[in-house]
Amino acid sequence: MLKFASLASLLLPAAHSVSGACSNPSVRKAWTALNDDEKHDFLKPEVCLMETSSKTRYAGSVSHWDELQALHTAQVHYWDEQADQAAAPLYASSIFNAEMGFGSNKTDANGCIVDGPFANVTNTLLSNFTRGPPQCLTRALDQAQFNLVAQAKVGLCDASTTYEDFNACLGGDPHVAGHYAVGGIMLDLALSPFDTIFFLHHTNLDRLWWVWQSRDLGARLTDMGGVNVASFSVLTQAQPKSLPAGAFVPYFGDGGGNVTTLNHNLWMADILPNVTIAEVMDIHSDVICAEYL
Ligand SMILES: *[C@@H]1O[C@H](CO)[C@@H](O)[C@H](O)[C@H]1NC(C)=O
Ligand SMILES: *[C@@H]1O[C@H](CO)[C@@H](O)[C@H](O)[C@H]1NC(C)=O
Ligand SMILES: *[C@@H]1O[C@H](CO)[C@@H](O)[C@H](O)[C@H]1NC(C)=O
Ligand SMILES: *[C@@H]1O[C@H](CO)[C@@H](O)[C@H](O)[C@H]1NC(C)=O
Ligand SMILES: *[C@@H]1O[C@H](CO)[C@@H](O)[C@H](O)[C@H]1NC(C)=O
Repeated sequence: MLKFASLASLLLPAAHSVSGACSNPSVRKAWTALNDDEKHDFLKPEVCLMETSSKTRYAGSVSHWDELQALHTAQVHYWDEQADQAAAPLYASSIFNAEMGFGSNKTDANGCIVDGPFANVTNTLLSNFTRGPPQCLTRALDQAQFNLVAQAKVGLCDASTTYEDFNACLGGDPHVAGHYAVGGIMLDLALSPFDTIFFLHHTNLDRLWWVWQSRDLGARLTDMGGVNVASFSVLTQAQPKSLPAGAFVPYFGDGGGNVTTLNHNLWMADILPNVTIAEVMDIHSDVICAEYL
């Protein structure tokens, strides 16, 4: 299994104001701020999507557009790991509620979660993007790792004055420790998105980026940088075929170099139109149009 080292390059894009047409932003809330109906509305399409995609995704001709649309129109929310870390033990975080969350800390001898809406979902995708036997959703909560996502750690990153430094910092402890705190498949470089918590974790990182941007929007809505290629070992291990990092550079729109620019093309796998980083730098852009609560 591939484990997370320092993967700043995997941070999802958060948010470049273009036309100001975003008058009715979707509201991204902390998991703890949702009522039971909102939690249910979030979890239901997730399970649906998983059950469908586990059978056909990558393997056949069935389009998952409907499911993805359902997901897309549902709210995107985040795990306020900093608040939860300060408030209570990891296992007591409401995200690990068996009824109205992603399952409790209980696992069987194989590390499979045994309760909550994802107890019986199975993944057949392997790290090399071929198919294998069905695997359950595994977790192994780790309090010591969770302590590394603390606000004090994020505060160190907030002191960064460039995006490149901020991203490198946030991609360290606040990012990596979130994966290790959940454990199980969240430690797998290629397969961690199988655990839906992955998306709440990464939306939280997007939120923290927005908090940092908001301190100096004049400069930070256009501040981009850092290498645009994952480290070589990551590519060789996680891709079906090993390709040198430079093989990807021509497709990125960064002028052929390996530095990430605002013109960088974000490939959406034909699920949504590709966008440039410039189009998603501002959470109030047409493409994102969201607000964090
Ligand atoms: C799992 O959660 C229960 C409370 O639901 C707690 O008593 C127990 O210590 C937790 N176990 C671990 C390993 O965190
Ligand atoms: C998972 O499957 C088992 C066996 O079919 C069943 O007993 C259990 O209720 C299921 N759990 C959930 C959360 O659906
Ligand atoms: C993918 O990984 C599986 C499990 O490690 C292995 O059995 C299989 O041969 C690999 N397939 C390819 C094409 O590398
Ligand atoms: C980026 O490109 C420069 C110049 O070609 C090269 O020296 C450097 O090793 C590259 N860095 C990465 C991380 O690929
Ligand atoms: C999206 O980006 C990928 C990668 O650069 C490219 O292959 C694809 O043709 C693009 N799709 C569209 C519709 O432009």
